[in-house]
Amino acid sequence: MVQKIDFAPMEGITGFVFRNAFHQVFSGVDRYYTPFLSPGPDIGIPKRDRRDILPENNRGIPVVPQILTNRAEDFLKTAELLYDFGYREVNLNLGCPSGTVVAKKKGAGFLSEPALLKNFLDDVFYGASRMMPDLRISVKTRIGVNSPEEFPPLLAMFRQYPMSELIIHPRVRKEQYKGLVHMDVFAGAAKAFEGAHVSATGAACSTAVSGGAVSGSAATHGSAASDTILTYNGDIIDCVDILRIGTQFPVVTRVMCGRGLLRNPCLAEEFFSGMQAEPGTLSSKEIKAQSEPASAASSADGKREKIRRFHELLVEGYEKAYPENPGIITAKLKELWFYLGDSFPGTEREQKALKKAKTPEELIAAASRILGG
Ligand SMILES: Cc1cc2nc3c(=O)[nH]c(=O)nc-3n(C[C@H](O)[C@H](O)[C@H](O)COP(=O)(O)O)c2cc1C
Repeated sequence: MVQKIDFAPMEGITGFVFRNAFHQVFSGVDRYYTPFLSPGPDIGIPKRDRRDILPENNRGIPVVPQILTNRAEDFLKTAELLYDFGYREVNLNLGCPSGTVVAKKKGAGFLSEPALLKNFLDDVFYGASRMMPDLRISVKTRIGVNSPEEFPPLLAMFRQYPMSELIIHPRVRKEQYKGLVHMDVFAGAAKAFEGAHVSATGAACSTAVSGGAVSGSAATHGSAASDTILTYNGDIIDCVDILRIGTQFPVVTRVMCGRGLLRNPCLAEEFFSGMQAEPGTLSSKEIKAQSEPASAASSADGKREKIRRFHELLVEGYEKAYPENPGIITAKLKELWFYLGDSFPGTEREQKALKKAKTPEELIAAASRILGG
């Protein structure tokens, strides 16, 4: 059963201003992943990225910083800095499908170099265990570059490392964010994790996936693969989707959600309020029925107000963060409204005006016609 919902990292959207505003208004999200930090060999974390993870910009918010690199040295240096800032978990990006990133064999592009990836993971897990033994390292991955058939050996490799969590977005790089997710591939991963959990609690056995022996450096951590949490990510739109994942894959207790939470920022709180009614006993029909009146009620008397407050905080935050750059503020708000507009059917005219807005003032005027207040 799904017990936790995390906010997916979304470059250009879920930065510190967004996280602060969201966390102040909405409940139900367990942790927020930062958009990827992309450290360079000489510059470390770029200044723009550094602002996003400074403790003073993330007070009281459970944040997991994400790192995009293919150099173990850069990963470890960045992880060390984050550790000094107080973070105890970092995430590796193996999913970014952007052409420039993939061309540099980073993000999803790194999946096309399994031997290099293995060396990288060896160095990262070994280095981290010596320098920061209590640092949790998680991985967010796609299932390949060109074909889902690439995934089984990749999964076997991942299972050799003591990562705290493996988050799978079951699409390959070339699918970007479109088309159906490969649920059959995720099901295969879930089966491997179920096997590992059974063996961890009972009979002696290593991981359930076929793979090589645990590498020397990974072995220094012990074979902790059975402690790795499996998290699902992709196309979760409503409470029924979350319930379905939990029912179909009992080993999955955590999901990561991106666009669904942008479309309906109340999604996580609606899910948990439905679950509270009868924990563990609701069918998908029942949870839909539970969450629909909740969302209908909150849309009548609270949801619009919550989103209005969130929008107000976002505008305030962006004005403070980008005082000299109204263009960025307009672009960021437009990108949010691309998704958020779905929460307001019947406001197509106002949404059109929003899309056409050239200044923050024009955009805020169109938004307040949708949000009232
Ligand atoms: C605009 C945008 C920016 C994204 N930025 C990141 C990122 O920085 N790091 C990352 O791992 N994934 C990133 N993603 C992928 C999301 O985290 C997530 O895996 C994807 O949207 C699928 O989940 P969803 O269907 O719940 O949105 C981004 C996706 C979008 C649409």
